[in-house]
Amino acid sequence: MANPRILVFAGSHRAGSINTRLAGIVVKELAMMDVPVTQISLADYPMPLYDGDLEAASGQPETAKALHRLITEHQGVFIASPEYNAGMTGLLKNTIDWVSRIKTQPSPWKGRAYAIGAASGGNLGGYRGLLQLRQTLGLGLGATVIPEMTVVMRAGDAFAEHGGFKDEAMTNTMRTMLTRLVDEAARYVR
Ligand SMILES: Cc1cc2nc3c(=O)[nH]c(=O)nc-3n(C[C@H](O)[C@H](O)[C@H](O)COP(=O)(O)O)c2cc1C
Repeated sequence: MANPRILVFAGSHRAGSINTRLAGIVVKELAMMDVPVTQISLADYPMPLYDGDLEAASGQPETAKALHRLITEHQGVFIASPEYNAGMTGLLKNTIDWVSRIKTQPSPWKGRAYAIGAASGGNLGGYRGLLQLRQTLGLGLGATVIPEMTVVMRAGDAFAEHGGFKDEAMTNTMRTMLTRLVDEAARYVR
């Protein structure tokens, strides 16, 4: 069976974003597994704050349509999601909300597998924000979100110079997640 294509992005486009760094490690790891991977930055998909009046007047932003299309061209998605006040970032939620307003088929939520991860300087590693993201993707949009996650705690000291993690256990956790993601996504390769 052909390898599935995996899309990777972070819920932050801040210069120096630790979640973009996590996304980069995932991209490198997938490339080492010979899995075709696309990494994007949400900075390239700017969207106004969701407003029903704006949508009624002008429809959905072209950037939301482009992201909708891009997701449907992949069988797996990894999102590195920072935690803001125990939830996901406004950037990520707003992006998901706009994309969810586009009803053209195929659906960007169904017919593919999602994996999620987070990095934070705190002791919980952004875990609580992932619970919200899982709820939005799974309960809100019907996406399949695999149980395995990559949660990078105390991120200030977690990343190694060469681009991976200092902790081998963290590397193994990520590999377990990616193996499951690729396996699940492979079921959707047509
Ligand atoms: C508004 C705001 C709320 C935050 N809330 C949390 C939080 O609940 N838990 C946490 O671990 N970190 C929290 N942080 C810290 C972020 O995890 C930290 O800024 C992280 O670097 C953001 O991700 P990024 O580097 O990928 O942009 C918060 C930061 C901001 C700006």
